[in-house]
Amino acid sequence: MGGMRVLTTGGAGYIGSHTVLALIEAGHEPVILDNFSNSSPEAIRRVGELAGREIEFIKGDLLDVELVERVFAEGNFDAVIHFAGLKAVGESTAQPLRYYRTNIVSTLNLLDAMDTHGVRTLVFSSSATVYGTSGATRCVEDLPLGTTNPYGATKLHIEQILDDLAASDPTWHIAKLRYFNPVGAHESGRIGEDPRDIPNNLMPYVSQVAVGRREKLSVYGGDYPTADGTGVRDFIHVVDLAAGHVAALEALPRHPGARAWNLGTGEGNSVLEVVRAFERASGKDIPFDIVERRPGDVAELVADPGRARIELNWKAERGLEDVARDGWRWQSNNPFGYAEPGE
Ligand code: WQD
Repeated sequence: MGGMRVLTTGGAGYIGSHTVLALIEAGHEPVILDNFSNSSPEAIRRVGELAGREIEFIKGDLLDVELVERVFAEGNFDAVIHFAGLKAVGESTAQPLRYYRTNIVSTLNLLDAMDTHGVRTLVFSSSATVYGTSGATRCVEDLPLGTTNPYGATKLHIEQILDDLAASDPTWHIAKLRYFNPVGAHESGRIGEDPRDIPNNLMPYVSQVAVGRREKLSVYGGDYPTADGTGVRDFIHVVDLAAGHVAALEALPRHPGARAWNLGTGEGNSVLEVVRAFERASGKDIPFDIVERRPGDVAELVADPGRARIELNWKAERGLEDVARDGWRWQSNNPFGYAEPGE
């Protein structure tokens, strides 16, 4: 597989930055397009430091149609990996129109420019949230899809758009990658998750308690039908997730049409298991209270990663101890993420 020139939208973000590094290490040439609304140019600088070379990037917004057209007119891309979008479940319930406009209209602008310029290989960042109403605890890709929040609905609608586009034109090759719970950080401790506000997700919150930025964790529910009563999820190390994107990109020439692949470990861990793993990795006590369940949460959601194993020749290599060790190294070396102290 020769090196591909890959436009990576949202490539300065948490998963995007790890994927850009993995693309370079696999001999590809990523170009980042990011509006930095939820990411930092510092992440790009550090990826360049780790990769040993400058990373080409464009500061811009996919809602700016003229800019998107110009990027493709000048870009000479072979493929696109599309991460850019809003992703906070709770926020999406409060601001549905903003989520639909940002996530769907920007994707339509991207697809138009790709089509105009004959770039029809796409890896799309989807989410296990599309299984939210299936009632399943172990998810295979052909489960009935449904979701409980506007953020998840944007992912579902975009998947449908991609299916219809591929059905209309067999020259499209599209991977819909359904992430389970991305966590951890690159082993260097130089890049990682840097949530803007109070973290919605478990791992960054635990991590901020360990480093002293938050006082204690609220465990949302201790009465689920699980081994210890707390929620169970499939926590996938972000470096494994990044490798899954490279594997999908390189497999796509063999997969015309639009096809979904789960990116998860296939193993479930509970909230309390995550807390204990982080205490071991950090040597810190993580105080917590068990409180009411969070509306919309399910008891358990774990991937069946069999299709990716067979068709992408990819599987997660890292477990919860690796996640906690690498996540702690990132957080303890960067207590305020990419921001300079006092910023
Ligand atoms: C995990 C578990 C919580 C925070 C969400 C999105 C999904 C994807 C990943 C984008 C649950 C519990 C959490 C806390 C807690 N995002 N929890 N205290 O809800 O599985 O998935 O993020 O694609 O689309 O839905 O992840 O990390 O929020 O929750 O007890 O402060 O941790 O109840 O059991 P979730 P999460």
